[in-house]
Amino acid sequence: MNKMFKIAVLPGDGIGIEIVPEAIKALEAIGEKFGHKFEFTEALIGGAAYDEVGHPLPPETLRLCREADAILLGAIGGPQWEELPVHLRPEVGALLPLRKELGLYANLRPCMLFPSLLGASTLKEEVLQGVDIMVIRELTGGAYFGEKHHENLMGGGEKATDCMTYTSSEIERIINLAYDTARKRGKKLCSVDKANVLESSRLWRKIAVKMAAENPDVETTHMYVDNCAMQLIRNPRQFDVIVTENLFGDILTDEASMLSGSLGMLPSASLGGQVGLYEPSHGSAPDIAGQGKANPLATILSAAMMLRYSFNLENEARLVEEAVNEFLERDYRTPDLMEAGKKLVTTAETGDIVAALIKR
Ligand code: IPM
Ligand code: MG
Repeated sequence: MNKMFKIAVLPGDGIGIEIVPEAIKALEAIGEKFGHKFEFTEALIGGAAYDEVGHPLPPETLRLCREADAILLGAIGGPQWEELPVHLRPEVGALLPLRKELGLYANLRPCMLFPSLLGASTLKEEVLQGVDIMVIRELTGGAYFGEKHHENLMGGGEKATDCMTYTSSEIERIINLAYDTARKRGKKLCSVDKANVLESSRLWRKIAVKMAAENPDVETTHMYVDNCAMQLIRNPRQFDVIVTENLFGDILTDEASMLSGSLGMLPSASLGGQVGLYEPSHGSAPDIAGQGKANPLATILSAAMMLRYSFNLENEARLVEEAVNEFLERDYRTPDLMEAGKKLVTTAETGDIVAALIKR
């Protein structure tokens, strides 16, 4: 008998509730085709959870996640929750503690280039040809989780502090994972830091240099984050695997998403704990929510990553990616990718077409 895969489904806020069902369609199509059983259980997170039960990460949601084989998350947050006390805000009250509680220290964001989207990027085709980058973002350390202070100064004014803190073991485990990843790909690793200025980056660099010597089969380079931001646009083909700390990774991956045409194309997998979390790299896009305009492909591609990393179903993962490629080859486009002469489709139509291509 085939194993039953239990998936915790957290649609969240904004376009999250529109894109998650489309990824489920893709997984169900895979289940049908290969005879796998997926069991989906939905739970509240983010602003939706705050509105319903008064907290953005209810204990039931966390429990469901711990008991699941994988987690599918849409997106969280929106303007209506921005004024809440910080611990109740969707980002700080739900997403960050979820990552931390589950020990998800490694965030994998593959920046893949679908050939038919070459023209959708704002960058020149000759710059983009052949781009294939995996950004590995440290996800449970740095300024996101360091000590924070906010005080009123005597005599007026305020002072706010976020500490960017890293321990050597936090750095070692993420760079280790990056070497494992690089070894399965192009055997090139670029470690990104700001060691010319930041103390935490100097520790990062020291460890990265030591580990480079221990991993001679992978070609290691070190780059300052400002230079990396520039190189990603100047010559993105030079990169294979990039490993970097939390905040740098957040910023660089939004930038890198434009290499694949749209932020709506960048999936992610958060790994390192008992259960993996899969979510698109973009946010809840309140400006387009509820209009069927959201691109669900990043979420569908995140489901492919779930098949690959949590369920070890490589062929099934490839089939989802091929279906997305075929969808684009057939000229279907959501508004974020629209070009003259292409066929405009809604969020739900995208999910239907991709699912049909999987089942074919
Ligand atoms: C991301 C997002 C989150 C982050 C936000 C929503 C807290 O931007 O996953 O990249 O900064 O990690
Ligand atoms: Mg981000």
